[in-house]
Amino acid sequence: MLSLYSCPVCNKIILVVQDGKGELVCCNKPMIRLEEKTADAGKEKHLPVIEKVAGGIKVKVGAVPHPMEKEHYIRWVEVIGDTFLFTQTFTPGNAPEKVFVVPPGGHVQKVRALCNVHGLWAAKP
Ligand SMILES: [Fe+2]
Repeated sequence: MLSLYSCPVCNKIILVVQDGKGELVCCNKPMIRLEEKTADAGKEKHLPVIEKVAGGIKVKVGAVPHPMEKEHYIRWVEVIGDTFLFTQTFTPGNAPEKVFVVPPGGHVQKVRALCNVHGLWAAKP
């Protein structure tokens, strides 16, 4: 659920809200599922760091700030909860951090960050 796929030709990225059996195709090529990394070289710059704050969470990417240059940056952060999905997009030059308000009684399941060079990373609170 909430899988991300990219096109190997045009770099289109899509979010699948519910998985199914059919193959996803773009530019006449099978789309590639973006696997969530939780540990790898460079994890200190990519794993979302989640801090509880009043009314929600503060997310930073990562423990060592990730570069935010035109050729290499964090495209977005997603907060996935039991009844919600929040996304914050970034552009080069932005700091890759954001405070997200969590609904009362809501439970954050995981936070994902997408680097345009190093792929998808996920952390749990
Ligand atoms: Fe990166």
